[in-house]
Amino acid sequence: MARYLLTGAAGFIGAVVAQGLLQQGHEVVGLDNLNDAYDPRLKTWRLDALTPRAGFRFERADISDAQDLERAWGDRPYDAVLNLAARAGVRPSMRDPLAYARANLIGALNVLELCKRHGVAKVVQASTSSLYGAHNPRPFREDADISRPLSPYAASKGAAELLCHSYHHLFGLDVTILRGRQVVAEGKGHLEQLKAKSPNNAVVARPQESGPRQLTKIQFGGKTTVLVLAES
Ligand SMILES: NC(=O)c1ccc[n+]([C@@H]2O[C@H](COP(=O)([O-])OP(=O)(O)OC[C@H]3O[C@@H](n4cnc5c(N)ncnc54)[C@H](O)[C@@H]3O)[C@@H](O)[C@H]2O)c1
Repeated sequence: MARYLLTGAAGFIGAVVAQGLLQQGHEVVGLDNLNDAYDPRLKTWRLDALTPRAGFRFERADISDAQDLERAWGDRPYDAVLNLAARAGVRPSMRDPLAYARANLIGALNVLELCKRHGVAKVVQASTSSLYGAHNPRPFREDADISRPLSPYAASKGAAELLCHSYHHLFGLDVTILRGRQVVAEGKGHLEQLKAKSPNNAVVARPQESGPRQLTKIQFGGKTTVLVLAES
């Protein structure tokens, strides 16, 4: 069984990933700063389901603060680090681009630096299909041009991807980048509905987009694949 550091563990995807890893018998140190980008009660509600589970430990920490991250990291080694913590969303990034640069760029750099220092064998970095901008044909391809991000969110995630490449090139870090798009957890409905869910489980209705969409499902793969986000 493996030992994982999972950032963004109180987030929508992080909490589902943590549950999946624990289900498989792995050990998870979940890290999150529980910021108020959306109602933080939703995050504590997710954590309430995780903290009693064997193999899970929560650390409240900010990945954009190198010292805080180092404190939360601890001394024991990790088999893999999953960096899911981020400011997510295109529109809010136009209002507060600095928060996005701190969490998504400086935060990712701090995570990569500690992975390098501790010789972590596998790193997974969450990125976004927003990087494909408006100039790429659909369905998007992984080798499409991502040089024209249209929001601070996309730009911050693109910058993090570039840093991942530098750390791979310079220090041999094995990094997998997952460009999610409208992520859904199997059997749980649409992301925005989940995000709008209040801690007492009431669902706030949001308009559903019509027509076919490129979604990402969270699935769990085999031994070496920590998690697979498959387009559907
Ligand atoms: N949900 C999607 O459809 C989607 C699509 C593409 C990419 N992604 C990416 O997947 C990842 C997870 O997304 P999500 O939907 O679960 O978002 P989310 O906002 O629900 O979760 C992100 C978590 O990261 C935490 N966080 C933010 N900044 C932090 C910091 N500086 N230090 C520590 N924790 C911090 C937040 O408190 C939150 O709990 C993100 O990197 C996001 O960009 C998501």
